[in-house]
Amino acid sequence: MKGVSFLMTVAILALASSFVSAYDPSPLQDFCVAINDIKSGVFVNGKFCKDPAQVTANDFSFSGLNIPGNTGNKVGSNVTLVNVDKLPGLNTLGISLARLDFTPYGLNPPHTHPRGTELFVVIEGTFLVGFVTSNPNKLFTKVLNKGDVFVFPIGLIHFQFNIGETIGLAFAGLSSQNPGVITIANAVFGSVPPINPDVLIKAFQLDKNVVEYLQKAFTPK
Ligand SMILES: *[C@@H]1O[C@H](CO)[C@@H](O)[C@H](O)[C@H]1NC(C)=O
Repeated sequence: MKGVSFLMTVAILALASSFVSAYDPSPLQDFCVAINDIKSGVFVNGKFCKDPAQVTANDFSFSGLNIPGNTGNKVGSNVTLVNVDKLPGLNTLGISLARLDFTPYGLNPPHTHPRGTELFVVIEGTFLVGFVTSNPNKLFTKVLNKGDVFVFPIGLIHFQFNIGETIGLAFAGLSSQNPGVITIANAVFGSVPPINPDVLIKAFQLDKNVVEYLQKAFTPK
């Protein structure tokens, strides 16, 4: 009898624990360093919530996604991101949106979104897109035309290359209010302060001169 009630208790506890959601919330920015003194300025994981009585329809709205981004840069692309910083109503909802403009042969270079999966839809242009899995590094790639949709799974390195002679336009939904972006070349060769060149020489098996050139090219002016 004693054995039976013990088993019952274990079974009930096991069942109960499957309903309790006790886990750490996903980070909504790159880091959230703990502090003890709340007077020294504090952020929560995400943003504070506005008093619902003060909320208006404008808090759920953003305007200007009809305007192309300026693609006059070295890669010939521009991403206009509508995240929680631009549309406060997105806070805690796990979603954001981007407009992507491309010159003919414009490229959105290899990058990752540490916090978001991306769903990309082509409005104008022909795109060579792809992503690479974690080890072993398999490439999934495809040519997309107007109306085609492609998903880039969270965290994986991906790119979008307009391979047509006309401008490219696409929109993307991202599964985070603040998906973040790490553009590989800029992060590795253009960090501030710079990564020790010896690290890059060995990591990328490059000549010292090439690393110097790349660090110069990618360090923000
Ligand atoms: C993208 O376009 C915006 C708006 O024209 C511009 O302010 C921004 O500098 C552009 N970004 C890049 C990387 O060219």
